Amino acid sequence: MVARSILVLTGAGISADSGVPTFRAADGLWEGHRVEDVATPEAFRRDPSLVHAFYDARRAHLGKVEPNRAHVALAELEQAWPGDFLLVTQNVDDLHDRAGSKNLVHMHGELKRGWCLACGSRFSWSGAMGEGASCPVCATSGQVRPDIVWFGEEPYAMERIEDAVRTCDLFVSIGTSGAVYPAAGLVQTARYVGAHCVELNLEPSQGSIFFHETRLGRASQIVPAWVEELLA
Ligand code: APR
Ligand code: ZN
Repeated sequence: MVARSILVLTGAGISADSGVPTFRAADGLWEGHRVEDVATPEAFRRDPSLVHAFYDARRAHLGKVEPNRAHVALAELEQAWPGDFLLVTQNVDDLHDRAGSKNLVHMHGELKRGWCLACGSRFSWSGAMGEGASCPVCATSGQVRPDIVWFGEEPYAMERIEDAVRTCDLFVSIGTSGAVYPAAGLVQTARYVGAHCVELNLEPSQGSIFFHETRLGRASQIVPAWVEELLA
């Protein structure tokens, strides 16, 4: 084991084998809408009920899916790894949490959280939100939005993430198309500071050239195999 500090970045592809739809697959449209047309503050202002329906459906679907072997393998890696370990996910599902990952950052927010625009509170949320939801903190209704980072908004915990990228020895990207910044740019920093960069994905991503190594396959197969090798 040469690497001491590991940073893992995950995207929708790691949850695909659990049955969570990805964003940019051929069937990645939601009732004919591109994700870029519902996941924006403008879309929410224009048509809040459409945006709520999109996230309410995805939140409800979480009740029907389970973590797969890739999520579990990452939780096991974190437990077994003697050095630093940070898991940064772009996913808004809760499958890493349910698999047992602890040092975990949801950089794009979480389906199971809400954010009140009246008082600024953020809180856990289960069930449908809809347009009329009332804030559990200030009781204002109609001002609660999903706590999701939309296009044009700044991801959470960027400082912590960038610090971890600048000090990692091993950077691993799993199941992400590399289409959305700043997540897609993290590999460039990792590469610049001399980390070994590995990509595990179904197909080469848009940032494939930045990785030293690309392994192709389904996450539920290639992630456990990679973890086993690393811990051997
Ligand atoms: N195993 C591994 N990789 C897979 C699998 C699988 N079973 N199925 C699909 N993939 C790969 C696809 O080939 C694709 O490269 O996962 C990637 C998923 O890409 P996207 O759908 O673009 O998801 P992601 O990269 O997470 O999107 C980033 O975009 O819409 C926003 O905020 C949203 O967090 C999301 C961000
Ligand atoms: Zn409130």
